[in-house]
Amino acid sequence: MWPWQSKKIDEEETELNQDRIPAHVAIIMDGNGRWAKKRGLPRALGHRAGVEALRDIVQECSRLEIKVLTVFAFSTENWRRPKEEVNILMALLTEYLKGELKELHDNQVIVRMSGVMDELPLDAQSELKKAIAQTRDNQGLILNLALNYGGRAELIQAIRQVSAEVLKNNLKIEEINEDIVNSYLYTAGLPDPDLIIRTSGEHRLSNFLLWQSSYAEIVVVPEYWPEFGIETLHQAIRVYQQRDRRFGGIKDGRE
Ligand code: IPE
Ligand code: IPE
Ligand code: MG
Repeated sequence: MWPWQSKKIDEEETELNQDRIPAHVAIIMDGNGRWAKKRGLPRALGHRAGVEALRDIVQECSRLEIKVLTVFAFSTENWRRPKEEVNILMALLTEYLKGELKELHDNQVIVRMSGVMDELPLDAQSELKKAIAQTRDNQGLILNLALNYGGRAELIQAIRQVSAEVLKNNLKIEEINEDIVNSYLYTAGLPDPDLIIRTSGEHRLSNFLLWQSSYAEIVVVPEYWPEFGIETLHQAIRVYQQRDRRFGGIKDGRE
């Protein structure tokens, strides 16, 4: 059981507006390597520290009753890294799922994945499948793991699937709309992210949620991912809550 259970959000303590908690928060967890380098440690230890940070953030997002937390854990471009580092990242993923599944399940978390599963190592695949199957009927936070995820790859596979439906005469070209495209994305059924947080001060999306990020508020924080804690999360949400989201319209629909 997580310690905060049954404890309501204390607005005084967090200064968060409970009525404007983002439904979907997506995080580009960046800076593990630089965090390690700053301390004279190997990059692997940066990634390990990153997993620790993730634990706290999942718990806090659940407490805040955020509906979806998507975390960018491995991109389609991250295969370009040295094999040794890729192996460490995959091993940490497997270890995280093995170690956390019970706690996630006990806390009603639903595990999902966005990305290509069948290119991952077999043990990672089997832990993922187990976590997804075991938690699918839960009612709490959706933890969406963006793994072997690339926004362009996602769009290409969607275009291929939609084209196949057109060729089979199941769909007319003029019927293709946003809902149809959404339904072929890895994130089908999830709301678009309201808030995208990137750590380590980098101002770019790096191929993350290209379609879904259209109207997301982007908050860049200077902290490296392993030093991103609950207070930094609150700070990013506070920044989000002060933003004026217009979706192409005008303020309040008036003026
Ligand atoms: C984020 O940290 C983790 C992954 C991309 C898998 P990095 O490994 O990118 O750390 P930096 O950016 O090199 O500091
Ligand atoms: C983005 O970080 C991918 C993840 C956080 C998994 P990168 O470190 O791979 O991005 P770039 O290379 O700095 O753009
Ligand atoms: Mg990086």
